[in-house]
Amino acid sequence: MTMPRAEITGWGKYVPGKVLTNDDLSKMVDTNDEWITARTGIKKRHIRTEADTTTSMACAAAHEALAVAGLTPADLDLIVVANSSPDYLLPAPANLIQHQLGAKCPALTLAAGCSGWVYSLVTASQFIQTGAYKNIIVIGVELISYAIDYTDRSTCVLFGDGAAAVILQPSQTEAGVMTFELGSDGEHAQHLMVPGGGTRKPLSQEVVDNREMYIRMNGQEVFKFATRKLISCLHNITGSAGMSPADLDLIIPHQANLRIIEYAADKLQLPMSKFFINLHKYGNTSTASIPLALVEAIEEGRLKPGDVTGMVAFGSGLSWAGAVIRMGEALAKAQPQAEVEGALV
Ligand code: ACO
Repeated sequence: MTMPRAEITGWGKYVPGKVLTNDDLSKMVDTNDEWITARTGIKKRHIRTEADTTTSMACAAAHEALAVAGLTPADLDLIVVANSSPDYLLPAPANLIQHQLGAKCPALTLAAGCSGWVYSLVTASQFIQTGAYKNIIVIGVELISYAIDYTDRSTCVLFGDGAAAVILQPSQTEAGVMTFELGSDGEHAQHLMVPGGGTRKPLSQEVVDNREMYIRMNGQEVFKFATRKLISCLHNITGSAGMSPADLDLIIPHQANLRIIEYAADKLQLPMSKFFINLHKYGNTSTASIPLALVEAIEEGRLKPGDVTGMVAFGSGLSWAGAVIRMGEALAKAQPQAEVEGALV
């Protein structure tokens, strides 16, 4: 008996209404549009409003994805949520999202930094392949601005908030998740962490005074790790599928920094047109980054039924995760929308 692949049959996204431009940031810290654009490719990012919570953003994306798939929350067998910015330390966000959606199924939260959504996608696809579940929603949601120090110019220019979701169902065809690679290098965890507020350094006046409840990042070390993993993971996941990175119709990299993608494209000898990029609009939305890019690639008609895409995420942990997915007939439902604000590349 062959096991069915997990196919993407629905997709949706949500970004908060408040926009923070590079010029806005230049009034907050010692930076400017020229530096941010040249070093990162980011022009603006969306930041939560008073009305946005991790749960509300996730549910907005989930409702869109369910509608595209023609499902209701009651049809869901499992909710998987990738997140590192929960509404509360307890309960986990997936439970609150399950309740808010009105679903009755189990709900699982998976934290793996910016690699979390691809980790979640791969995890969910195992339940489909074994036949345990038929309708799974995989949500990436990040209200990362809560963990950003807006006095630290080396990190605050990079990140934005957002959410995106896909529905996975058993495929009747060759469409679906074909191969994957999951990875962890905890030895280098210190390069990207929130040092305070956990059990090792509980929240205290000292933590607040030292601003240790915010993300600290060794940008250059993370940059080197990211380029290395983007290249090796693309080779590995396509190799397992009997392909090479050049055979992919579209590559969806983690939207952290345009220079990371340009470096990888150069080393892989691939044109930048093979990479989907929307980081100029949203910055790095952590776990929401890859699904937000995937949803926009579908909405803009960059992915069509039969196309094969490779996605690679990397982030805190340090962690990385990649997957090769063949798109199915469900993508014919997408109404191609022009990219309204013009791509950077
Ligand atoms: N505006 C102006 N100047 C700045 C800014 C800023 N926003 N930030 C840093 N600088 C300055 C530095 O202070 C430094 O000044 P100095 O030379 O006087 O000391 C100079 O610019 C160069 O700093 P570098 O850190 O060497 O700059 P770099 O070219 O490495 O770019 C960046 C920094 C953008 C953070 C880069 O290292 C990077 O993108 N790293 C990867 C980060 C990443 O991908 N993180 C996310 C992955 S994981 C996740 O998604 C959670």
